[in-house]
Amino acid sequence: MTHKSLALISDNESIISSVTKAVDRLEDHSLETLTGTLSSVNGHASQLLNNNDLLVFTLSEDVDMEIVSDLRRSAGPSATILALSDRDISLSDARALNKVGVDEILPFPIGSEELREQIQKLTVDKSLLPAIYNPQKQRLGQVISVCPARGGIGASTLTINLADQLQGYSGIFRKKTQNKVAIVDLDLQFGTVATALDLEPSSGLLRMAQQGVNPDRTFLQQSLVQHASGLEVLSAPEDFMPLDALTREQVTTLIETLRHDFDYVVIDLPRILVDWIGAVVTASDRMFMIGDSSVSSVRQSCRLIDFFTKERLAPPVEIVFSREAKPTFRSSHHVEAQKALGRELRHWLPCDARHAKQALDRGQLLSQSANNCALSKSIRMMGRKIMSETSGEAKDLKNNAA
Ligand SMILES: Nc1ncnc2c1ncn2[C@@H]1O[C@H](COP(=O)(O)OP(=O)(O)O)[C@@H](O)[C@H]1O
Ligand SMILES: [Mg+2]
Repeated sequence: MTHKSLALISDNESIISSVTKAVDRLEDHSLETLTGTLSSVNGHASQLLNNNDLLVFTLSEDVDMEIVSDLRRSAGPSATILALSDRDISLSDARALNKVGVDEILPFPIGSEELREQIQKLTVDKSLLPAIYNPQKQRLGQVISVCPARGGIGASTLTINLADQLQGYSGIFRKKTQNKVAIVDLDLQFGTVATALDLEPSSGLLRMAQQGVNPDRTFLQQSLVQHASGLEVLSAPEDFMPLDALTREQVTTLIETLRHDFDYVVIDLPRILVDWIGAVVTASDRMFMIGDSSVSSVRQSCRLIDFFTKERLAPPVEIVFSREAKPTFRSSHHVEAQKALGRELRHWLPCDARHAKQALDRGQLLSQSANNCALSKSIRMMGRKIMSETSGEAKDLKNNAA
């Protein structure tokens, strides 16, 4: 491992001490600390950013977006910036900070293990990751996780068929695909992806747990099972495995390795909270929280969002209501749900039990068994939105880099 240097700008003693401890525990990482705020050290910040692999700073009361955006501009897209916030900040502030160029924002206090992991992730050698940091070349794939707010709501149906649509079919017979897509079934005990696609289950995740493997490319290539549609699937194992048999580190490596080889990595999550879910929250570009407008489902979604917010300020959660067609007029309970969730009700999947069941029974994708049914159309729309937003972001990155 090559040496990594970090700079910290903070006037908060407990933050200084936590970061110092985290860096001390990382081999080959060094830290330079400057006491003050981003604005008080003014000119020095960009110098620190240019001379180090990672700049960490404490968000002060009145975050000055202009300073952050100047910093980013002077340092270019390859510099990495982490903000630690010791107060609650609003979702819109967090988004604005991301937009002007802060790579990650974490709440403080934060567990020492978690902080260390985040620092490690943010100081990964960028020359080894040509994709995202060099927009001229291929980007790293997007990670999309699907999280069910209640059982049997249609999470796996969404995972599988969204992954399929993200392949980006084109051509006269819609046989050509433009994206490589992987599905990972992390619903370790009750995963249904293999059955739903009529594939042999893989023992990859079980072997990862039993042998303590940190999966590399070769391991994954051997564990992925290819579906006739082109999708590559890492399914849940056939044999029982305890949910906590995987570690955060393994899950982080799994996702990071896959996103080098795939344009999209779609992850089906269990309905149970377990430590490594934190790694999925951290790595996700989008998290689809799938539920419905019932009080219990909305309440459960809120609890999950709260949990995710402890892992990552502003987790990229988008709400999906399943078995409800998008209403022309929102009723009062939709308005209530939206308020409670603090997010727009962005995606709607109509109730279509017949086609959903038929696809499952035949072990087929909706695009094979009922391409034009209402459910399939809605998932196709979601896929298109995501693909067009991805290419929009790619353009932004290119423009910023130019
Ligand atoms: N939009 C939908 N409308 C009606 N039934 C659905 C829909 N989506 C899924 N189903 C059915 O609900 C059941 C559970 O689906 P599944 O995707 O396995 O849910 P989960 O992964 O949330 O447990 C299946 O029988 C499936 O056919
Ligand atoms: Mg499921």
